[in-house]
Amino acid sequence: MNSTPRPPLTAIAAVAANRVIGANGALPWHLPADFAFFKRVTLGNTLVMGRKTFESIGRPLPGRTTIVLSRGARREHGREWERGVEWERGSPTRSGDTAAAGAAAGAALPPETRLLFAGGWDEVWSLAGAFSPMPKLFLAGGAALYAEALPWCEELLLTYVAASPAGDALFPEFAPLFDAGEVLETHAESVPAFEIRRHRRRAV
Ligand SMILES: NC(=O)c1ccc[n+]([C@@H]2O[C@H](COP(=O)([O-])OP(=O)(O)OC[C@H]3O[C@@H](n4cnc5c(N)ncnc54)[C@H](OP(=O)(O)O)[C@@H]3O)[C@@H](O)[C@H]2O)c1
Repeated sequence: MNSTPRPPLTAIAAVAANRVIGANGALPWHLPADFAFFKRVTLGNTLVMGRKTFESIGRPLPGRTTIVLSRGARREHGREWERGVEWERGSPTRSGDTAAAGAAAGAALPPETRLLFAGGWDEVWSLAGAFSPMPKLFLAGGAALYAEALPWCEELLLTYVAASPAGDALFPEFAPLFDAGEVLETHAESVPAFEIRRHRRRAV
């Protein structure tokens, strides 16, 4: 039962023509211009993601608050996580990217970087309110979370990827709830090509 007020939620996802969003725990494509869009719109805000998506990323994304949903033990990367406990800034992570390399070398992550665990949606809403009274809360996947929370979303930011890869994670059917969408960006130069659209929830 949800007793905490739910803040406005925007789902952000990259979706193939066959609705595939993931394969074997990872993204089926590499789209740098889409990552740049994701970073631009989510920076300074809060992301909520499932434990499997968090593990596939391997670290809290710099400059954002990440709330990870999990029902299980919070033992990741050799440390015990506790609900609502802030990520110890500068902790080593397993990812080999620049931010993680900086962290491993002792450099602090940007001050807005937080990692929080939640055991259910009600806890997500209260953590989002307590730790980040910021304008936007983004639903960042994966398939399980999109399926659970799409009915609560006010807006979708969808990257339509012009490909039909094999995969085991799908984006849910959303057309009845949302409008046809407005094109924000077109990337015909990308391989595969993609287009980003904003869909708003239909008035009932
Ligand atoms: N294309 C995109 O934009 C995009 C974006 C994100 C992810 N992905 C892809 O999606 C795939 C992962 O999706 P997925 O469905 O397998 O996993 P997921 O949604 O990332 O995570 C599922 C996990 O979240 C936790 N969880 C879900 N609902 C919960 C609830 N109500 N309360 C508490 N915990 C809850 C559970 O963790 P515990 O098992 O720990 O309890 C569950 O096993 C990957 O391939 C990833 O790359 C794609």
